[in-house]
Amino acid sequence: MKRHLISAGDLSRDDALLVLDTAEELAQVAERPIRKLPTLRGRTVVNLFYEDSTRTRISFEAAAKRLSADVINFSAKGSSVAKGESLKDTALTLEAMGADAVVVRHPASGAPHRLAGWVHGSVINAGDGTHEHPTQALLDAFTMRRRLGRLEGLRVTIAGDVLHSRVARSNVLLLHTLGADVMLVAPPTLLPYGVSSWPCETGYDLDSALPKTDVVMMLRVQAERMNAAYFPTVHEYSRRYGLDVSRMALLPEHAIVMHPGPMNRGVEIAAEVADSPRSTIVEQVSNGVSVRMAVLYLLLGGAAGEDGAGVDR
Ligand code: NCD
Repeated sequence: MKRHLISAGDLSRDDALLVLDTAEELAQVAERPIRKLPTLRGRTVVNLFYEDSTRTRISFEAAAKRLSADVINFSAKGSSVAKGESLKDTALTLEAMGADAVVVRHPASGAPHRLAGWVHGSVINAGDGTHEHPTQALLDAFTMRRRLGRLEGLRVTIAGDVLHSRVARSNVLLLHTLGADVMLVAPPTLLPYGVSSWPCETGYDLDSALPKTDVVMMLRVQAERMNAAYFPTVHEYSRRYGLDVSRMALLPEHAIVMHPGPMNRGVEIAAEVADSPRSTIVEQVSNGVSVRMAVLYLLLGGAAGEDGAGVDR
């Protein structure tokens, strides 16, 4: 494994499988009466969040705590960032506090990459702009493998606002590495420029994609990132690209429905679909903790000595 996790493309097939297998072992900790391991005792993990987050921030915090690390939560609101402090100065402050890992979410694509040049600890990208969200892709792959038993040859349809989605890019890269076949489905206005060079297929018609799909992943319409009209009306979007009960019926019997959250119920996904037994949305959240434990363990403690205190990576 590399020292940082900035892009899903940083992971070789062996690295990715190691994370998933380690997560599988660590998931057992959640079933014990005491959900804690001493592995990262004495190490410090900083959660540096410049953008709103519920699941990802809480999940990283729970993961670090289950491994006994000290956790410092930093959110841009209420900090000196509001006074105009730069990312670099903030990073140097964290460094001075002895952060072994910095988990960063930032509205600017590329911010974690810059940060990695300034700090000595490991940088983990928890979502940068419209670029990447590698731990989300790992937890999605973990969820698919748990539900369907394999990733190799799996047909995955990712549908919706691909243009503004960091989840889509990370999933395409990781799933391709792991041997799945990905198809992106969106209105032409919501597919990014250059998507033809991504290792996946693209299409505009959800109804024709669903019957040959093992996994359908619905993406949130990211209104907060939209500065123009990308589709005529929400109703129109929902009619063509929303997953409702009748559209879900086009899926093969065994197929599962995923969504990274937060959902716009009634827009990209109907409430009945989100709450159906085929939906893995709640599992994705609990699997997120195991996967993030695995990432922290492998980046910070994995190559350490018996006492878990080594820094040999
Ligand atoms: C995603 C994100 O923040 O990129 N959510 C998440 O991390 N669970 C997707 C989204 O915001 O729609």
